[in-house]
Amino acid sequence: METHVLIMVFLLGTSLDFSLQLPNLANLPIVYTLFEGTQEQFPFNSQELTCQNVTSRYKVNFINVDPTTNCQNCFNVWADTASAQQPNYFLRYVPSASRLDYNAENTYKITLTCEDSVAEGVDQIVEVRIIPNIQPTFSTPSFDSVTVPSTNLFAGTNVYEIIATDSENDPIEYALETVPTSSNFDIRANGQIYTVNGFQGICTGQNSYEFKVRVKDPYNEFTDPISVTLDLQFPNLPSIGNANRDVTVPENSVQNIHTFTGVSGTISILNVQPSIMRNKVTLFGGNILRVDEVFNFEEFNTANVTLLVKSGECEARYWLMVRVQEMNDLPVLTPAKVSAAVPEGIITYNPGFKVEDEDFSDMVTYTIQRAISGTRDITRDFTINQEGIIISNFDFDLDSRGSEVELITFTVRATDKRGGFDESEVILRVENINDNPPVITTASIINDVLMDCDPPQRIATVAATDLDPGTSPNGQFQFKGSGAGNLRVTPDGAVFLDTPVTADTTYSYTIFAEDLGNPQLTSAKPITITVIGQACTTIFVPPTTIPAVVVTVPAVTVDTGSGAGAGAGAGAAAGVSASASSTSLLDDPTNLIWIIFLGLLGLLLLGLLAWLLWRFCFPRCCPGCYGKDSSALARNTGGNDGCCNRCCGKSNPTVGPREPEHYPEGKVKDFWQEHYQELDYDNTTHRSHVPTSGLHEDGYLNPR
Ligand SMILES: *[C@@H]1O[C@H](CO)[C@@H](O)[C@H](O)[C@H]1NC(C)=O
Ligand SMILES: *[C@@H]1O[C@H](CO)[C@@H](O)[C@H](O)[C@H]1NC(C)=O
Repeated sequence: METHVLIMVFLLGTSLDFSLQLPNLANLPIVYTLFEGTQEQFPFNSQELTCQNVTSRYKVNFINVDPTTNCQNCFNVWADTASAQQPNYFLRYVPSASRLDYNAENTYKITLTCEDSVAEGVDQIVEVRIIPNIQPTFSTPSFDSVTVPSTNLFAGTNVYEIIATDSENDPIEYALETVPTSSNFDIRANGQIYTVNGFQGICTGQNSYEFKVRVKDPYNEFTDPISVTLDLQFPNLPSIGNANRDVTVPENSVQNIHTFTGVSGTISILNVQPSIMRNKVTLFGGNILRVDEVFNFEEFNTANVTLLVKSGECEARYWLMVRVQEMNDLPVLTPAKVSAAVPEGIITYNPGFKVEDEDFSDMVTYTIQRAISGTRDITRDFTINQEGIIISNFDFDLDSRGSEVELITFTVRATDKRGGFDESEVILRVENINDNPPVITTASIINDVLMDCDPPQRIATVAATDLDPGTSPNGQFQFKGSGAGNLRVTPDGAVFLDTPVTADTTYSYTIFAEDLGNPQLTSAKPITITVIGQACTTIFVPPTTIPAVVVTVPAVTVDTGSGAGAGAGAGAAAGVSASASSTSLLDDPTNLIWIIFLGLLGLLLLGLLAWLLWRFCFPRCCPGCYGKDSSALARNTGGNDGCCNRCCGKSNPTVGPREPEHYPEGKVKDFWQEHYQELDYDNTTHRSHVPTSGLHEDGYLNPR
């Protein structure tokens, strides 16, 4: 063991000796300093690397650096070429990608060797010590604040100066961040914060900025920022004391809307929303907003007026919301006046009203305020429906009202939901129309028995009425007839027999009345006249002593009528128009009783007369006694000459026989002569005419 130690000591000693003899760096120890963050390459000129114990020309070799933190190849040995014989060697710093950082590594050991033509010396070390660089520092206190009137800030005006110093007098670089971000601020190289554009004419906006400023020197990163606050004082803006609010304006009126007060500046209208409302408002007297053109609620019901108030450079905007209040727009009823003619009856008249009402979905109700006819108020006689059609409540019959025409003046009112109304005048001329046919008032059937020897004559008169006024054609009428050709009715109702009848022929003639209106109306129920022709033969009827019950020659024996009865018979005998009283004779029961009683009495007397005739006169009476005039009228008025007055019978004063002095011609004479064979009838006064049948006599002769 000791041997080994000795050997090692020997070797070490040997080597030491040897090394001393090898080239080696002179001037050791060598320590360099280097500022951290140095960014340029440079040789450490302060200490040249020289080798000693060299036999010849030498060189210095760079072996390595330790550690290599932030320093990959950041040192090498650089030889200047000043001397061709022997270059001078220097340690050289070459910045690498990563910067040196004192805090990361403050000492680097660089291993070098010296080498000559003989040998290379052993590794030797020089040191590089890192010197930290001191950051610049702020003299300005942090969180300082400054207040500046905006009007003082022109373009380029300094706002605030940041002061920083660097103990190493390194150049200082400033960086500015503005919160909120604004391009209107910047910082100069000397730390002056200034406004780029200034604040002239800007009267409102962000009025507080925070400036965050950092500094650096070439060897350091930017520092943490300091903060300075700028408070901008904007000028007082022009204003309106009572704007930015709603005002309500009734539609349909031109009026002042709003008077602005507390105004600092000059007001103008900038715009109106919606723009269609723009020309409806004006500014009047500088501070009064006015409706210049009426608002229509149904069109637009708001107008937001934007106002500009200006003072010097500054201006401000205000608004006024005008809300249009809906007023009831009155309905307008057209036509305002209308007149028309309508026929009588149920009146329905549509004046064709149109209503204009600007209110949305407003409706009107029609009413008749007044309906005046002459001086009469007949409002209640009419109604008006919701289509505006005027309707009479009943059949407005002029005929029953006794007027031919009526002029009715209506005042029609259309009232909307809120009571607004308009009125129109409607004048209706109610005119008569031909609404009534004539009605024949004469009994419906007339029977007449005529002899074939009766001459043409007037046999009846018919009458009718018409409810329409007789002053108009609607109420005027005429008669027309049809049927037997020998009968004729005149327009005014006289019925004539134009040619004599033929025996045993029944003539039927239908008469109707027709008015002159348009359209023409014809009586619903015509009248039928029936005439029965008879030969001019005689019928034996014994005379009676009853006054007025006189034998009728020629007597009516046929009654074709259905209801005329005795009256019809009387009419036939009389040869004139039927009379209403004739039918009423039998209607009275008292009359009937009397007739029956008298009839029975008559029969009794007739029997007695027959017996007397048979006993005294009959054999002597003259046959063939017949007058020339056989007409009914002639019979009534009678000829004077009887024919049988000479027939026996002085006992009967009426029909008793009398001796005739001569034989007068004619029917009367023949009658008496034939029936009573009175040859002396000429001298009897009562036989101056043929007896006429009495009313009751018919009942007797033709009992029903
Ligand atoms: C080596 O150099 C040193 C100093 O330069 C000197 O003292 C020494 O004698 C030299 N040795 C040789 C062998 O030259
Ligand atoms: C009126 O318009 C302005 C803008 O011009 C607006 O700010 C304001 O809110 C509007 N008013 C109403 C009530 O809408």
